[in-house]
Amino acid sequence: MPRLVGPGAGLLVAGLAPALTAVRLSLHVLGASVWVGGQITMVGLLPAARRAGPDAPRSLGRAFSRLQWPAYILLVGTGVWNVTATAGNQAAAWNVVLGVKIAVVAAAGLGAWLHGRARSKAGLAVWGAVAAAASIAALVLGVLLAG
Ligand code: HEM
Repeated sequence: MPRLVGPGAGLLVAGLAPALTAVRLSLHVLGASVWVGGQITMVGLLPAARRAGPDAPRSLGRAFSRLQWPAYILLVGTGVWNVTATAGNQAAAWNVVLGVKIAVVAAAGLGAWLHGRARSKAGLAVWGAVAAAASIAALVLGVLLAG
C-alpha cells in the first residue's frame, strides 16, 4: 500500500475535520437526527397508527420514547463536549446564541416530558408542539454556532 508522505499527504486530508472533532460532531448530529427527525416522523406516522387501533398511537409513542431519551442524553453530553471544545475566545454574539440554545433545549426536553405525561388531547397537542418547535429551534441555533 503506498504511504502518504510529503506535501501530497497534506493536500489529501486538507479540509477534513480532525478525527476527534469528527467524532464529537457526528455523535451530536446523530443525537439531533433521532431527537428532531424522530418527532417529525412520529407526526407522519400518527394517522396510520390511529387507523391501526385506539392503543396504537400510545404504544408507538412509548416505543419512540425508548429511543428519544437516550438521544437527548447524547445531545446534552456531546453539547457540553462541544462547549468545552469550542467556547474559548468566542464573540459575544456566539455566547448569547449558546445561552438561548441551552434554554431552548431545556424547553424541548420539558415539552417532550410533559407530552409523554399528558392525558388530554389538548395537553398532548400543546406539549407536542412545544417540544417540536423548540427542538427545531435548537437545531437551527446549533447550525449557527457551528458557523
Ligand atoms: C435538542 C438538543 C440539541 C440539538 C437538536 C442540537 C443540534 C445541533 C446541530 C444540528 C449542530 C450543528 C452541527 C454541525 O453543523 O456540525 C449543533 C452544534 C452545536 N451544539 Fe447542539 N444541539 C442540541 C443540544 C446542545 C446542547 C445541550 C449544547 C450545550 C450544552 C449544545 C452545544 C452546541 C455547540 C457549542 C455547537 C457548535 C459545535 C462546533 O462548532 O464544533 N447543543 N447542535
